[in-house]
Amino acid sequence: MGPIMFVEINQALEKIRNVGWISRSEWPDSAGIRPSEADLSESEGRLLRTVPADELDLVTLQNLAQAAGFELGIEYFPVIDSTNRQLMQRVRDDRAGTTLMVCDYQCAGRGRRGRHWISPYARSLAFSYAHSSSKALHELGGLSCVVGLAVLDVLGDLGVEDGRLKWPNDVWIEASKLAGILVELANHGSSTVAVIGVGLNVALTPEERAGVDQPIIDLRSRGVILDRNRLLMLFVRKIVGYLEHFEQSGFAAFRSAFDAVHLLHQRDVVVHPASAGATTPKRGRVVGVGNSGQLRIETAKGVEDLLGGEVSLRPAENSE
Ligand code: BTN
Repeated sequence: MGPIMFVEINQALEKIRNVGWISRSEWPDSAGIRPSEADLSESEGRLLRTVPADELDLVTLQNLAQAAGFELGIEYFPVIDSTNRQLMQRVRDDRAGTTLMVCDYQCAGRGRRGRHWISPYARSLAFSYAHSSSKALHELGGLSCVVGLAVLDVLGDLGVEDGRLKWPNDVWIEASKLAGILVELANHGSSTVAVIGVGLNVALTPEERAGVDQPIIDLRSRGVILDRNRLLMLFVRKIVGYLEHFEQSGFAAFRSAFDAVHLLHQRDVVVHPASAGATTPKRGRVVGVGNSGQLRIETAKGVEDLLGGEVSLRPAENSE
């Protein structure tokens, strides 16, 4: 499945944007996406939008990037399967022109450890940024933590001061998840390209919140009402800045900042292996992150290093 599958849907959405409606028969049902998933209502044989959607706009995004002095090759899809998947494909096809892929609706978003990530139409941010790195693979382990710190920094700028990170890739507010980060690596000549995907809840409906198997929160409930174009660019600019710093100084420069905002720092945790049944859960106390972004926990056998892809982490008191 590639963006090609969505060409007709994206054309239909473009027409609705320009003309206000399309006839029901113009909707390409074969792509497997219902009009209601794109927040469209049906009336007298027409599909239309009864409530305005906070859609992205490529020209606005390009202008915002230019005004901030950024060189970004931006690709926008109203509907896509997964920005990470498609940007990885661009990198593999050697189409280095795209550095930022954004969408309004992601129907097969990828989460960490094979989980599905939900991005409802124009009510969340789902984007991927391709970062070319000259660092060795083993030095890139802390990337999702660096990106998490950039996200928290933007939240602070927006007046949301109580954001926290949960190693290796979650952004939390109070006891609920606001955003997730998925870093995937691809070789590109002599450099490595990290495709950094960010999914962030902007203004979900109560039904959408209830449909997820863990507590989640959005920015709207914290009083942030900036439109999605501006929000997205705030996050991208900050992430790019943090990545530049990471390229120069490595993860060592971020370690103490990460520990300071890590939800589980100095807490007792239970570490579950990623694949069920591989090994039994391990107990320990989080003592910090290491120079490669690994989590260091003190167990009965001494300090052990955990790598992000391998485990899922829970506070000990919630683990039973
Ligand atoms: C997680 O918490 O499990 C990570 C979620 C990452 C979701 C984002 S949304 C944009 C990008 N495209 C994807 O398919 N996934 C990431």
